[in-house]
Amino acid sequence: MSVSDSTLNQRIEALVADATRSVPAVGDLEALHALEVDLTGRRSLLVEAKRELGRLDADERRQLGQKVNEARDAIEELLAARRLELVAEARSSQLEAERLDLTEREPGRTGRLHLVTQARDRLEDVFVGMGFTVAEGPEVETDFYNFEALNLPPSHPARGMWDTFYVDVGEPGTVLLRTHTSPVQIRVMEATEPPICSIMPGRVYRRDTADATHTPVFHQIEGLVVDEGISFADLAGTLDAFTRAYFGREVRSRLRPSYFPFTEPSAEYDISCVFCAGVGCRSCGGTGWLELGGCGMVHPNVFAAVGYDPERWTGFAFGFGIDRMTAQRHGVDDLRELFTNDVRFLEQF
Ligand code: PHE
Repeated sequence: MSVSDSTLNQRIEALVADATRSVPAVGDLEALHALEVDLTGRRSLLVEAKRELGRLDADERRQLGQKVNEARDAIEELLAARRLELVAEARSSQLEAERLDLTEREPGRTGRLHLVTQARDRLEDVFVGMGFTVAEGPEVETDFYNFEALNLPPSHPARGMWDTFYVDVGEPGTVLLRTHTSPVQIRVMEATEPPICSIMPGRVYRRDTADATHTPVFHQIEGLVVDEGISFADLAGTLDAFTRAYFGREVRSRLRPSYFPFTEPSAEYDISCVFCAGVGCRSCGGTGWLELGGCGMVHPNVFAAVGYDPERWTGFAFGFGIDRMTAQRHGVDDLRELFTNDVRFLEQF
């Protein structure tokens, strides 16, 4: 072996010894990468030594080649071990930084109702103040309550208005997650005789992909009024009174013709945009109005389904989305924010 080869040998040994000290001491992943380039990159001693191999005779080449390979293996092992440690450290310090102490109790910061629950409570207060009672129904429903009794017989084309989650119970397609709070109308009418003046808040489910304006689970508040001589004017007047009580005196409401199988006539209920006072802005898509839900006069077939005499009783119903109303009231521009349940977002309200 020539003199220069033996120095090369020593330099490689020194390199490994140096790496054994320096690699475990590296403080972060960036520095580790820089050191890796020094130790094994194109300009490293190991690559230089590899080039030298070409001018050695077979025996020497074998010896030095083995030396280089062993050195490379040792260094790569050191680098990999340190990388694992640094990744684990970075992860645990990130977790520590994002940790939320749910037991933390500061004065005035001891937990609160979810924004949607607050909205639901306020809606109930306003309607109870107007003389409504509050009723509830199950979230897992049968096809009869969710569709059929609401004048949506099997294979009615308007069933497509509600993308439904079915539950794997009983005959296929008979049990489902309610797609709206309207089935509670049927349950209330089955359980009581008119006059009825009820609201029915609750959670509903639809096969929608979550985006800024849709979530597969959301909340509605249903209203039902049944008595002798109830007219569309009663519906319009009730919604107008509600609008002022809930949103404030300056907010106006309007009804637009629409279609629902369980009401006739049917309407869409809009309020003047709370952000621009009806002038037109980004939140209302420039129209000056915000859509809150559907309503209409109860269809005679719905009364027939619960055994009410449609000649004697008339009534109106409405169903509003609580989440959208809440988002609009608080300027939340993405509904998903309400349900990812990041405490830092929720504790603002
Ligand atoms: N159930 C309807 C929906 O979810 C809303 C509605 C309720 C319409 C009551 C009219 C009467 O789309």
